[in-house]
Amino acid sequence: MLLPRPTSLTIGEGVFELTRTARIAAPGELFGAAAWLQGALRPATGFPLESGSDGVIALEWNPQLPAEGYTLDVEPGGVRIAGGGPAGVFYGCQSLLQLFPPEIYRRGRVVGVPWTLPVVSIQDAPRFGWRGVMLDVARHFMPKHDLLRFIDLMAMHRLNTLHLHLTDDQGWRVEIARYPRLTEVGSWRRESQLGAASYSRGDSRPHGGFYTQDDLREIVGYAMDRAINVVPEIESPGHTQAAIAAYPELGLGGDDEPLGVWTRWGIDDNVINLEESTVEFFTNVLDEVMEIFPSPFIGVGGDECPKNRWRLDERTQRRKEELGLETEEELQAWFIRRLDDHLYRHGRRLFGWEEILEGGLGSSVSEGATVASWRGTAGAIAAARAGHDVVSCPDDRVYLDYRQSDRADEPIPVGTVLTISDVYRFEPVPPELTPEEAGHVLGGQGNIWTEHMDSPRTVDYFAFPRLCALAEALWLEGERDYDEFTGRLDQHLARLDALGVEYRRSSGPLPWQQRPGVTGRPLTPQQRAAYFEPLTARIDR
Ligand code: ACM
Repeated sequence: MLLPRPTSLTIGEGVFELTRTARIAAPGELFGAAAWLQGALRPATGFPLESGSDGVIALEWNPQLPAEGYTLDVEPGGVRIAGGGPAGVFYGCQSLLQLFPPEIYRRGRVVGVPWTLPVVSIQDAPRFGWRGVMLDVARHFMPKHDLLRFIDLMAMHRLNTLHLHLTDDQGWRVEIARYPRLTEVGSWRRESQLGAASYSRGDSRPHGGFYTQDDLREIVGYAMDRAINVVPEIESPGHTQAAIAAYPELGLGGDDEPLGVWTRWGIDDNVINLEESTVEFFTNVLDEVMEIFPSPFIGVGGDECPKNRWRLDERTQRRKEELGLETEEELQAWFIRRLDDHLYRHGRRLFGWEEILEGGLGSSVSEGATVASWRGTAGAIAAARAGHDVVSCPDDRVYLDYRQSDRADEPIPVGTVLTISDVYRFEPVPPELTPEEAGHVLGGQGNIWTEHMDSPRTVDYFAFPRLCALAEALWLEGERDYDEFTGRLDQHLARLDALGVEYRRSSGPLPWQQRPGVTGRPLTPQQRAAYFEPLTARIDR
């Protein structure tokens, strides 16, 4: 019935029927949830559903419940939703919607459908407080209108954290008033590599786009109204070529021609220098980012920063000596530490990929710094043991850009096979952790890297229905039963159909979801392990 499955659901006798005269009752503090519910129920039913002090649908607080917890009681005479906080009430409303026939999700009047609900009693609360998705809007820009739709789809699945990967080698997507060239120059590239193979040609087609600060404030507010926190990420010190293209003084110089925004995929050797002026540039950027995003967590990246150019660069070597550092890994840790100090002074928490644990940072970064663990679980274990909070996002469980089957017609297949069932079985807490260490695991997130997703339609194909499985894995306390889940997923797909989500069919990609002739880079589990294991060995434990 519901997805994610609630903690408990008891079906009773009879039904409740929503009719034209129904009203929504909510105290003033729950105006937001009441307005959302009206907006959700009006289009398909055509009912006015006015709100007031009485009504057959009643929304209320229950301070006994956890902030994201709710109860939902449907009786023949009315519906009552109580939440421990605004998020709980909102989730009660989302669950209410799922109890209606799937046509409730259509955005125009539907005739001939009785708007009935079964009599039920639901008690529900999530297992984890971080139920997230990372969306890479840097590799391919997601237009604002599609991003708002994506936020609606997250909210439907009671996901509460949107980690927006806003900058990378291939594009800078956030307007920064102090440095206008970041978007003037950095927000578009001449062309994109077609496929994942190193020999892939370019597509001869410019790609670009960025969000203004007003756009981002709108996105943050829209998400907040749906109980979603937006965590921005400004990548550094690697994955910075778009910034260097805009402001060459950030780079190491010595190139034959000025660097442009990168048109290839993969790990880029062009990284920033570590001069004081560069630290200042990035902290100035973070100041504007903190103005836009109220999130307690601010992402700084930190992953996949090749050190070879630093090793060969005289100025960087002098800098290393000046700072009394021995290795390039320490240099990176020093840089991240500077950003951490800055965020800490502003009352925010640094959020970075697990490479921030390399170079001795694990013991020196501020206590609140939080680690996104992505290459399997080594980072999660090391971070939790060092007393840092962790967001689990192991690539082989929740990288939603990885191929969905081993069929040859999967579009641009990369990584290992990651099925719905693999995602459903995702366990954010590594079994190696003690109960106390496990307390540092805030939850998990699925990562949607978009090198090979050039449109929101393709994001739909990769995200759904795997994101449905992820949402339940992060929500549900206790045992999960995949066979039982698949039955509910079938019903849930009718909701996604009504919403126009172009999810992957269990029969495989539709012809227009395939990319014949575009080469991917599929890995076997052995190839993946051979690549990652030497890298995770560098994490300070
Ligand atoms: C990552 O996938 N580079 C965090």
